[in-house]
Amino acid sequence: MQNLRGKTAFVTGEASGIGLALGQAFAQAGMRVMLADIETDALAKAVEKMRGFGSDVRGVACDVSDPVAVEYAAKETYASFGNVHVVCNNAGVAGGSGIDDISLDTWRWVLDVNVMGVLHGIRTFLPQIRSHGEGGHFVNTASMAGLNSGMGLSPYSASKFAVVNMSEGLAKQIAPLGIGVTIVCPGFVRTRISDSARNRQQRYGKLHIDPASPAGKHVARQAELAQAGIDPADVAAQTLRAIQENELYVFTNAGREWRDELCERFDRVLAAVDAAAARRSNNKRQVDF
Ligand SMILES: NC(=O)c1ccc[n+]([C@@H]2O[C@H](COP(=O)([O-])OP(=O)(O)OC[C@H]3O[C@@H](n4cnc5c(N)ncnc54)[C@H](O)[C@@H]3O)[C@@H](O)[C@H]2O)c1
Repeated sequence: MQNLRGKTAFVTGEASGIGLALGQAFAQAGMRVMLADIETDALAKAVEKMRGFGSDVRGVACDVSDPVAVEYAAKETYASFGNVHVVCNNAGVAGGSGIDDISLDTWRWVLDVNVMGVLHGIRTFLPQIRSHGEGGHFVNTASMAGLNSGMGLSPYSASKFAVVNMSEGLAKQIAPLGIGVTIVCPGFVRTRISDSARNRQQRYGKLHIDPASPAGKHVARQAELAQAGIDPADVAAQTLRAIQENELYVFTNAGREWRDELCERFDRVLAAVDAAAARRSNNKRQVDF
């Protein structure tokens, strides 16, 4: 989607970090923007700040894990701006450590926001974008943790693998309709992600991680890395370009280290595929013989 001016964007997780930077970039590009977030005070401040760019920017309270709330936010957007063109399913939370040293509630919280939240955004907006025929683009925020399981945050990684996979499937499905998909895979970005528990809904109970436990130390290390990460504005600029160029992946922190980790995983997978193929052909030769 080359020309963004005058088009409408809907962005979730907009009151902070990457979402805030995306909203700002869209407003500066002359788009109308609907900001959707669970954190209403921060949302109100974001709306006020972005109105300063001279674009029509509005906000709607929305918990992306709730399909009814996303449906409501979509109706508010259509009522305010008419057709929607760019949907950024960006809201996300980081939580957990290993497979079994965290509660099932923590697993549910992370999967409900990070996976179901993205799914709700796609299912809610796709019919309208498909029917108005003016083209459109979905931006789903995944992570390098969606391609590499070695980062030690199991539910987070599982959720981001799901976002990558779901988005790749979506891209194939909707490319013939002229609707694009971009999967944003950041490394570490300087945001409030390590303080995600501030938005944990009551139904999942309190998040408690003992800071002295291995899980607690791991989470603290992740927080340090995020604070040493890149600027969210950098992620937003790369994402804007990807929408305009219709690129499927954005690897915002791409570098040797990330590449080596990906190679290690893909090499292991391909080696197993080759070994299985060799075994099958040996077996076949034995049967033929
Ligand atoms: N910061 C990083 O290092 C990093 C790296 C890779 C991927 N990401 C991803 O980037 C996205 C944005 O995170 P961020 O780093 O800007 O963190 P952030 O905490 O600064 O922003 C996340 C936003 O999502 C909102 N949010 C949380 N739960 C919500 C819910 N249920 N419904 C609606 N909004 C909700 C928060 O209020 C906040 O405004 C997330 O999907 C995250 O997983 C971040």
